[in-house]
Amino acid sequence: MDYDVTTWLNLCLRWLHVIAGVAWIGASFYFVWLDNNLRPPAPERNGVKGELWAVHGGGFYHSQKYMVAPAHMPDHLHWFKWEAYTTWLSGFALLIVLYYVGAPVYLIDASRHAFSQAGAIATGLAFIFGGLLVYEALCRSPLGQKPRLFGLAWFLALAGAAYALTRLFSDRGAFIHVGAIIGTAMVGNVFLVIIPNQRRIVADMLAGRPVDPRLGAMGKQRSVHNNYMTLPVIFIMISNHYPVVTGHPLAWLLLAMISLGGVSIRHFFNLRHHGIIRHEFLFIGAMLVFAVSIVASHRPKPPEVASDVPFATAQAIVQKHCVMCHSAAPTHKGFTAPPNGAAFDTPAGMARYAPRIRERAVDSASMPLGNETHITDAERAQLGAWIKAGAKTQ
Ligand code: HEC
Repeated sequence: MDYDVTTWLNLCLRWLHVIAGVAWIGASFYFVWLDNNLRPPAPERNGVKGELWAVHGGGFYHSQKYMVAPAHMPDHLHWFKWEAYTTWLSGFALLIVLYYVGAPVYLIDASRHAFSQAGAIATGLAFIFGGLLVYEALCRSPLGQKPRLFGLAWFLALAGAAYALTRLFSDRGAFIHVGAIIGTAMVGNVFLVIIPNQRRIVADMLAGRPVDPRLGAMGKQRSVHNNYMTLPVIFIMISNHYPVVTGHPLAWLLLAMISLGGVSIRHFFNLRHHGIIRHEFLFIGAMLVFAVSIVASHRPKPPEVASDVPFATAQAIVQKHCVMCHSAAPTHKGFTAPPNGAAFDTPAGMARYAPRIRERAVDSASMPLGNETHITDAERAQLGAWIKAGAKTQ
C-alpha cells in the first residue's frame, strides 16, 4: 500500500478549514448585517437599543440588541467563538503540513532568498506573530479611535509585509503568509478582545456590578475590523488558482489593489444595510479589480526566440524542468503522484496541458515550483512559442 499521510492530512485540514471558515464568516456577516439593520424598538422598551424582525426558512425571528446588557442574565446564552478558533487552528495546521514540512518545495525560492528550512519557518512565524503585535499596537494607540487613519495605517503595514514576503518567499508562500497575518489578527480579535470582554460583561452582571459600556464598544470595533478584512483574506485563499496575479513581478501591488477593492465593496454593502446607497464604493471596487487585470497583463518582455520551436525542444525543456514532479511516477522527493493529476511525461500529456503550462510557466513564473531547476527566461519563451504554434507533438 502506498499511503501518503501528508496528502490525506492536507485534504482533511483544508476541508475543515473551509467549513469552519464558512461558519465563522457567515455568522460574522450575519451579525454585521443585523447590527446595521437594527431599528429603534417600537414601542420603546427599557434598555433595548434596536430590534429587527426577519422571516427565514418559514419562521419569523425577532432580534433585539441591548444598550449594554439585559437586566437579567438569560439562562441560555450562546457564545460565538469556536467557528473562529477552529478556522485558525485548522489553517495553522495546514500551514505547517504544507508550507513548513514542505518548505523546500512550497515556501523557499532560492532565487529570492536561500533560506534553510528552519530559517524560512522562523521568518514566516515572525511575520505572522509580528503582524499580530503591530495590529494590536495600532488598535490600542490613539489611531485606534480614528477608523479611517487606522485603516490606512494597517493597510500600509500589510502592503509592506506583502512586498517583503514576495521578495523572500515563493509566490504562494508569500501570499499565504499575508493571509495568515490577516487571519491571525482576525482570530486575535475574537480571542484577545471580543470574548474576554464579553466574559467581563457577564461576570459584572452576575455580580450586580455596573457594566462598563467601553467593553462592548471595543468588541464592536474589532468586529468591524474583521468585517473589512474578510474579503481580502478570502481572495488570498483562492489566489493560488491565479498565477497571473501571484506570479507577477508586482504581485504585492496587485494584492494590495484587490484587497482595497474588496474593502470598498464591503463598505458599499455595510452602508446599504443602513439604507444608504453609495454606488461609488461598488464602482471603486470594480475599477480596482479592472486595474489589476490591466497591470497584470503588462509583463516584462520575454526574450526573442524563433517562432518555430520543434516539439523535441519543448519536450527536452519539460523533461529537464517539470517531469520529476509532473509524471505518472514522480522521482522528486515528497511526490508520489503527479500534482493535481497533471503529468507531462508523454507527448499527449504535454499537448493536453499546453494552455495550463503556458499559464504557469510562460505567462507567469509560478512553475517550476520555487524554480528549483533554474529554468531560464529563454526556455520559458521557447515553451510559449511551441504552444502558440499549436502545441504540436510531431
Ligand atoms: C517540485 C515539483 C514541481 C516541478 C519541478 C514543477 N511543478 Fe508544476 N506543480 C507542482 C505542484 C505541487 C502543483 C500543484 C500545486 C499548484 O497548483 O501550485 C503543480 C501544478 C502545476 C500546474 C497546474 C495543474 C492543474 O491543472 O492544476 C501546471 C500547469 C504546472 N504545474 C506546470 C508545470 C511546468 C510546465 C513545470 C516545468 C516547467 C512544472 N510545473 C514543474 C509541482 C511541480
